[in-house]
Amino acid sequence: MIPRIAFVALLYAATTSAVCTKLADCPQYEALKTTECQTYHHFLARGSTSPYPGHVIETVGKVCDQLNNATHPKACGYEDVEYWAMNGGERWCISAHEGAVHGQEQMRNYTQRCPDSHLIVMGFSQGGSTQLDVLGGGGGLLWGCTQEDNPAMNITSAPGSKVAAAVVFGATRRSANQSYTFGGGQVSDGGAPRSAKQLAGLQPYADKGILREYCQPHDPICAPHTQNVDMKYHLDYFDKWGTEAAEWVVSRARNASGITTGGDQKSSASDILRNGITHPIANVFMLLIALFVLYFAIRRIAVWKSSSPRYAPVSTTEAV
Ligand SMILES: *[C@@H]1O[C@H](CO)[C@@H](O)[C@H](O)[C@H]1NC(C)=O
Ligand SMILES: *[C@@H]1O[C@H](CO)[C@@H](O)[C@H](O)[C@H]1NC(C)=O
Ligand SMILES: *[C@@H]1O[C@H](CO)[C@@H](O)[C@H](O)[C@H]1NC(C)=O
Ligand SMILES: *[C@@H]1O[C@H](CO)[C@@H](O)[C@H](O)[C@H]1NC(C)=O
Ligand SMILES: *[C@@H]1O[C@H](CO)[C@@H](O)[C@H](O)[C@H]1NC(C)=O
Repeated sequence: MIPRIAFVALLYAATTSAVCTKLADCPQYEALKTTECQTYHHFLARGSTSPYPGHVIETVGKVCDQLNNATHPKACGYEDVEYWAMNGGERWCISAHEGAVHGQEQMRNYTQRCPDSHLIVMGFSQGGSTQLDVLGGGGGLLWGCTQEDNPAMNITSAPGSKVAAAVVFGATRRSANQSYTFGGGQVSDGGAPRSAKQLAGLQPYADKGILREYCQPHDPICAPHTQNVDMKYHLDYFDKWGTEAAEWVVSRARNASGITTGGDQKSSASDILRNGITHPIANVFMLLIALFVLYFAIRRIAVWKSSSPRYAPVSTTEAV
């Protein structure tokens, strides 16, 4: 019942969603797509029936905006996890398993070629479920089909050891009461809970402070056991939490590179503040702003002292 409603709604949402899901609609992200070796490389898993790269691309844009700069314009980018992203009966299970297996294989291939890269794992909806399968292992019953098992990714060796951050939104197969869930959805299991073994597979990533899952109440996909479920709660993660999630990913990415930020993983605001204080560029900006303010304060006093009417009020062109 729930799945059937969800399928129809998701297809509909693909054409009405405010968040950009395909590069043709947001060509500013085209330059981020690459298979080259990068300091920070994302693996993106899209939701059911979504085009590539899917709903997380704007969040990736926010992350890369902060990690790329003039001297390293391609330090951060992404590749798509290649998989069917299909649903409806057996198709969901075939597709999710394909995503889990391909996701792991692409990460293995990438770290073999690019052993110095830090990996960032992101996914939405079926893609969120798939990325949890990639890290913690997947498989089992869901929505009336049985997904084939895949093993967890061991965090002690590459590619698991190269993961800097993983964040999923509205994942289908997930368990209630996990410490890494944000958004209030921890009160409910998803379409099916994860097995004890799968949760144990995710725990090392949670313990390292590099795993986050966003799920809110009323989302019929990740929190179906809450009241008044509505597809709109499955689709507004990026408006509500995209920026917060991106700040967190950036702080984890910098930490993985050995750039100290303090790292209080529950508070992205304090991370921003700390980054602002410790980041050398930010310090230069703060100094410039201080000098700017001081300069105008002195000018104001000078103007006030000479009490020349031509300076009152200070025009906007003068301020430029
Ligand atoms: C530019 O970005 C790279 C990669 O993120 C970083 O290592 C470097 O410190 C940055 N440079 C400046 C001047 O911020
Ligand atoms: C991984 O690399 C192998 C060997 O180059 C290749 O055959 C395979 O298709 C790659 N897998 C993926 C998912 O890219
Ligand atoms: C991960 O690999 C390490 C070292 O090979 C091993 O000791 C550990 O048991 C493995 N963990 C899992 C969950 O397989
Ligand atoms: C989650 O925890 C609450 C409070 O301890 C408990 O009532 C609830 O049954 C748990 N949910 C699941 C699915 O385990
Ligand atoms: C930051 O990275 C260091 C290793 O470079 C690690 O020991 C520490 O636990 C990390 N902090 C967090 C909050 O992830």
